[in-house]
Amino acid sequence: MIRKRIIAANWKMNMDFKSIDTYVDKLRNYMNDINFENKDVFISPPFVYLDYLKKKVKEIPVKIGAQNCFYEEKGAFTGEISPLMLKDLGLDFVIIGHSERRNIFNETDEILNKKLKKVLENKILTIFCIGEKLSERESDKTIEILSKQIDNAFMNINKDLLKNLIIAYEPVWAIGTGKNATIDQIKEVHSFIRKYLKKFVEINIPILYGGSVKPENIKDIMSLDVVDGVLVGGASLDMDKFIQIINFEE
Ligand code: PGA
Repeated sequence: MIRKRIIAANWKMNMDFKSIDTYVDKLRNYMNDINFENKDVFISPPFVYLDYLKKKVKEIPVKIGAQNCFYEEKGAFTGEISPLMLKDLGLDFVIIGHSERRNIFNETDEILNKKLKKVLENKILTIFCIGEKLSERESDKTIEILSKQIDNAFMNINKDLLKNLIIAYEPVWAIGTGKNATIDQIKEVHSFIRKYLKKFVEINIPILYGGSVKPENIKDIMSLDVVDGVLVGGASLDMDKFIQIINFEE
């Protein structure tokens, strides 16, 4: 069986209708160069562009998903988006627990556990992000922090639901900084996460690496057996760069 690698784009709070048109036109031009047999390409635009992008890429095999959602299904929660709404839009996945959600919007492990539980109960494929801050790495707390983030995230979640889960390891100090983790650091942490996840479930949960992934380092990162794919921020906004990342083996 071919092992599918996941290449996921997180646009964060970027792009507009015009740039999306150009982006998708370029993607269409590159279509014949992409071997979709061994890749799963995910794109996550801001909420307001989800429906537009989803319709625009209808005949292209890419998955479209949201960057966040709330843990309640409906009600008086001004400004929030429900997992049911994501399903209603026919989306393919959602990202939960991105470090910007944790650190800028103060989403705690408890909030993220509620979110993860709700999206998985709704059978939505979920990329759940974990990662240590620089001070935590420097004080040798990486493994402790990651174990705690995983333990807290999985609390009271039926293990059968974990088949719809993808983990993204994103060291906070490597996000948007141009500083990516070294190959040895990625290997060490991914191997640990892989082993730790077995505490909860037998199946292999895919593990992505994120943090300053770019055309220059994709090949080395993907050369690691313990890396099932990547979550790309900045470099995913430029289709010329993103396509080089998707086509990393060439
Ligand atoms: P970056 O972002 O590639 O710009 O470092 C990665 C992410 O935040 O998912």
